[in-house]
This record gives sequence, C-alpha cells and structure tokens, in this order.
Amino acid sequence: MSSELISALISRVSKQGLSYLDKAALAELGETVIAIEEQQIPGIVLEAGCALGGSGIVIAASKALSRDFYIYDVFGMIPPPSRHDGADVFERYALIKSGKSSGINGEMYYGYENDLYEKVRKNFKDFGFDPAQQNIHFTKGLYEHSLHVHSSVAFAHIDCDWYESVTTCLQRIEPWLATNGILVIDDYDTWSGCRTAVDEYFSDKKKHFSFERKSRLHIKKISAEPKHENHHF
Ligand SMILES: C[S@@+](CC[C@H](N)C(=O)[O-])C[C@H]1O[C@@H](n2cnc3c(N)ncnc32)[C@H](O)[C@@H]1O
Repeated sequence: MSSELISALISRVSKQGLSYLDKAALAELGETVIAIEEQQIPGIVLEAGCALGGSGIVIAASKALSRDFYIYDVFGMIPPPSRHDGADVFERYALIKSGKSSGINGEMYYGYENDLYEKVRKNFKDFGFDPAQQNIHFTKGLYEHSLHVHSSVAFAHIDCDWYESVTTCLQRIEPWLATNGILVIDDYDTWSGCRTAVDEYFSDKKKHFSFERKSRLHIKKISAEPKHENHHF
C-alpha cells in the first residue's frame, strides 16, 4: 500500500478510536514494517496485544501481501498483573476490574466487549483486509498457552502492558528474531512491569542488540547470540 494510503488509513483508525497509539506512533509502526520489507528481512511479522485491532490494521497495510502476519491476544479481559508489576499497574488493573474503565474516545473499554475476537475480525474486514487472502492469522488465548513461534521473525509489536505478558513474549519471540529484525516495545515508558521485563530480559544480551528510543522502544538484533554463550566473565 502506498504511503498516502497508509496515512489515510491511520487517520481513519484514529478517528474510529481503534488504537491506543496516536497517529504519530501508528505512522512510526507502519514505517518500521515498510523498512523491514525494503530490507527484505526474512520471517513472519507478529503482534502480541491487539485490543480493537488498530495497530494490527496498520501493520497489515504496511507488510507485503505474501508475508505471514500472526496476531495474538486473549480477546477478552486482560489477565491480572503479578508481584513484578508496580503500583501504577495495580491501580490501572483495579479500575479495569471494577467495570468502570472507559475506552478510547470515551467508548466502551475493549475488555468489556462480548465478542472482541469477532469485533476485531470485522474491523479488519471493514478496512478491506481479508485474513485468508492476505496471510493474516489470529490466535485467541493467553500467551502462556497460545504463543508458540517456530519460524524466523522479522518484526514484532509487543504491546501487552504487564510484566508476565511481556516476559513471555520476549522469551518466545526473541530467540527467533532475524538479524536486523526489530521488536517494538509499546509500553516501556508507560507501565513499570513492562520496563522491568525488558531490562531483565536483555540484561545479559545487550551486545547483540541496538536499542533506539523513538516514540516507542525499538530493539534491533545486530548479531546472532551463540547458543552456549558464557555470560559470566
Ligand atoms: C494495550 S492493549 C493493545 C493495544 C493495541 N495494540 C492498539 O493498537 O490499541 C493490550 C492487549 O494485550 C492483551 N494481553 C495482555 N496480556 C496478555 C496475555 N498474557 N495473553 C493474551 N493477551 C494479553 C490484552 O488483553 C489487550 O488486548
């Protein structure tokens, strides 16, 4: 899709309240996927945390038609935080649990939807995406049970808020990340548990990655990690 069309699509996603990312962040996400295509980085593209589908629609519009795009989400209520998350997260989760959280643009919070899975599929369809034709695959379930990667990953958007979710994603996705492949971490500057998860995960792997602060944290694999690296010297 041309950059003009993607820009129009981002305006529509934003106007319809389909993403927590603002227009600039959505544009940055799209540009990152387009760069992955231009550099012909091998592998699938992936999103962990789709909510109403807004960022996923932008990724779908930016990827090559033939490239597989896997979307993972519980498509329901976000799971509870753990002891590794901070007070900010527990406060947010308490509001969600109370049933009083409002959604984007004052609409219903996505976690209260009766059938979020079907709603998201409809959102993709309304934007002209036919998952079967365009190699878009939805997987419903908690990452702990459902997120299993078995092929090279060119790009992953990790947007799932809490410590355990982000940790599971990193553990399952990063080992498959292609050289020059990119992970975009949405919540590094938003939720304490996400930041802890990323800092912990990469603490002994830093030399193999570049870390770039854009509107979100972009992590690029610059060299493959030897299988049996000794981290203790
Ligand atoms: C902030 S929302 C994603 C926002 C979306 N990318 C957008 O454009 O607005 C985070 C999503 O991650 C999902 N999520 C978080 N932890 C999860 C887990 N462990 N398993 C499955 N889904 C999870 C939530 O249910 C929610 O749909």
